[in-house]
Amino acid sequence: MMMKKQFCTKIWMLAIATFCILQTNGQAKFDTTAKIAALISKLTLEEKVKMIHASSSFTSGGVPRLGIPELVTSDGPHGVRPEHGRDWVLDNNSLDSGTYLPVGVCLAATWNPQLGYDFGSVLGSEAAFRGKNVILGPGINIIRSPLNGRNFEYESEDPFLVSKMCVGYIKGVQDQGVSACVKHYLANNQESKRFTINVEMSERALREIYMPGFKAAVQEGGVNTLMSSYNKFRGQWVSHSNYLLNQVLKKEWGFKGLVMSDWDAVHNTAQAFWNGMDLEMGTDLGMLPNPDYGKFKLGDTVAALIKANKLPEYLLDEKVRRILYVMFKTGMIDGQAKKGEYNTKAHQQTALKVAEEGIVLLKNENNILPLNKNIKSIAVIGFNADRKQSMGGGSSQVRAFYEITPLAGLKNIAGNKIKINYAQGYNIVRGAGPDQKLIDEAVAAASKSDVVVFVGGWTHGYNYSVWSDNAYDAEDIDKADMNMPFGQDELIKAVQKANPKTVVVLMGGGAIDMTQWVDKTPAIIQSWYAGLEGGNALAKIIFGEVNPSGKLPMTFPKKLQDNPSFVLGEYPGDTSKTLNVHYLDDIYVGYRYYDTYKVEPQFAFGHGLSYTTFDYSDLKITQAGNTALVTFTLKNTGKVPGAEIAELYIHQQKALLPRPEKELKGFQKITLSPGEQKTVSITLSEDAFKYFNDVKNNWVMDNGAFDILVGGSSRSIKLKSTINL
Ligand code: BGC
Repeated sequence: MMMKKQFCTKIWMLAIATFCILQTNGQAKFDTTAKIAALISKLTLEEKVKMIHASSSFTSGGVPRLGIPELVTSDGPHGVRPEHGRDWVLDNNSLDSGTYLPVGVCLAATWNPQLGYDFGSVLGSEAAFRGKNVILGPGINIIRSPLNGRNFEYESEDPFLVSKMCVGYIKGVQDQGVSACVKHYLANNQESKRFTINVEMSERALREIYMPGFKAAVQEGGVNTLMSSYNKFRGQWVSHSNYLLNQVLKKEWGFKGLVMSDWDAVHNTAQAFWNGMDLEMGTDLGMLPNPDYGKFKLGDTVAALIKANKLPEYLLDEKVRRILYVMFKTGMIDGQAKKGEYNTKAHQQTALKVAEEGIVLLKNENNILPLNKNIKSIAVIGFNADRKQSMGGGSSQVRAFYEITPLAGLKNIAGNKIKINYAQGYNIVRGAGPDQKLIDEAVAAASKSDVVVFVGGWTHGYNYSVWSDNAYDAEDIDKADMNMPFGQDELIKAVQKANPKTVVVLMGGGAIDMTQWVDKTPAIIQSWYAGLEGGNALAKIIFGEVNPSGKLPMTFPKKLQDNPSFVLGEYPGDTSKTLNVHYLDDIYVGYRYYDTYKVEPQFAFGHGLSYTTFDYSDLKITQAGNTALVTFTLKNTGKVPGAEIAELYIHQQKALLPRPEKELKGFQKITLSPGEQKTVSITLSEDAFKYFNDVKNNWVMDNGAFDILVGGSSRSIKLKSTINL
């Protein structure tokens, strides 16, 4: 009796507590809504208009008399950008050298959403310290072609992986009281003619491939701000797209935050005003050096048109309401802004961890890696070995507090015990062929060393100006082809001849054509642009202090001619003529194409090696209605601890519309000691089995048999079972 009474009292207390929490939350929400409405009622028309366009290179207008601050934005996706002051000139006097994190594609290669969160927390914290309210990242456009100059900033060819990684990042940033800004919505999958092209794609490709990351950013990440892209979509500038902004983003997905334009991506006042654009950023270059911000498309004209009864004021209020919503939510008004921290050891350790988990070991014949620390000498060859990359790439440039290059990282471990013979090997000059003198020096270094570590690949540049710096992974420019630049093929072949024990390390935002030397190369590492600790992470992997665990977030094709945007679609399109780019590759992006059309890649999506081995066994599937719980056992069968990313794909045997051979629907990264085994569980919801049927204009599930495929890459399936739904 007594027990029952106590139990009832507890239940009551719980109910009252829950009620109070709901009340408080509801009340807080009501308060904020009321406060926003009160503020809007006090604003003059001109003040409201000031809030919906830029007031300097990276701020939008505030209203000091009512305590409404300017919204301060900053690039970029992998570190807070150097200061621009209020104008467009880099301010070289400020103390803005911060934590340079690995680029987006390296983060995605960790397949570790927790690291996404940690990465975002570092960014958010440093942004807060520098007085920024919005970090212009993450960039999550789908990697459609290896040629896109901004692939390094993005994450993956796979919408599921993008979704999982960007949610952590966004929450990490926003838990620091800073807004993330997911970009570039939508179909900004190339830099060639990004300001003018019109992208045409099917509704199915849009829904299955290009939208899910943005939807997850909104619905799971709760992202506060979103940036529209420069291009047109189905004949309409994305910045004025009623369909993309009003109908899908705001109405269907319930996005509550603000939409800002990419810098100078608004073309028409009325269209932007009606169709969902809330904040116009950037400056028409013709206005520099002293832009007149009143002349912005969402500037004085808006006030004039409202006064003339040609635009409704309630829509202006709606834009201001969204801006104020973000300001209240992040404590910019009526709250306590977080102070943040800068260049802490902990931030640097996060950058190191992401690099250690994101660098991918692509090939390791006869266990040539890890190198034995008893070797006497290493030839380190290649310009990239000693090149700092942080200021490259365009708007995502970061002035790094320090940057450990691969050469510096190798020296840190080699110390006095191992002699390092460095040779530059090639020059970074666009279009230039091999330099025989440099090749001879490299060959000499290779011949007198026990082993060679060649560090080359793409490059990223020192300066903003992409052309002058011969950058290949950079904003506003695509690669012309997938060939190794600067005569590196000839160099590698000459070095291999002199010393077959050559490890090739590739930097860059993605695939490069390796066909000339890949078969003769015993070990290959993909090291992206791995942040300020990148050189240390790479060296630790090379010497086995860290067991590599990264996997490719995109397929590396053998040749550009194998890529689906090349074979089936258009890339970059005939940009000299129609400016239309037809995505006829449709849903067959990345491995969805290679696996369905049976085209052998150089390295498959999801591929990455370890210094240990893993065994998959015991696949069990428990169905409950149209959901499934998938469990299997993963065992470390090697001699060293390591982490494996177990990937789960589905394959529908027969559907009304064609479906790709495989679709990633789950993954987990599991760390195991030698001999240790764990049961891995992955739940598949009903949505995991659906596809977008454009005839019905809806997500559908065609009942039937589904293969559940589990393994270490899209091409290394270890377990298979079939279920009927
Ligand atoms: C880029 C954006 C960037 C903005 C501000 C634009 O050119 O496309 O990604 O955030 O500039 O620097």
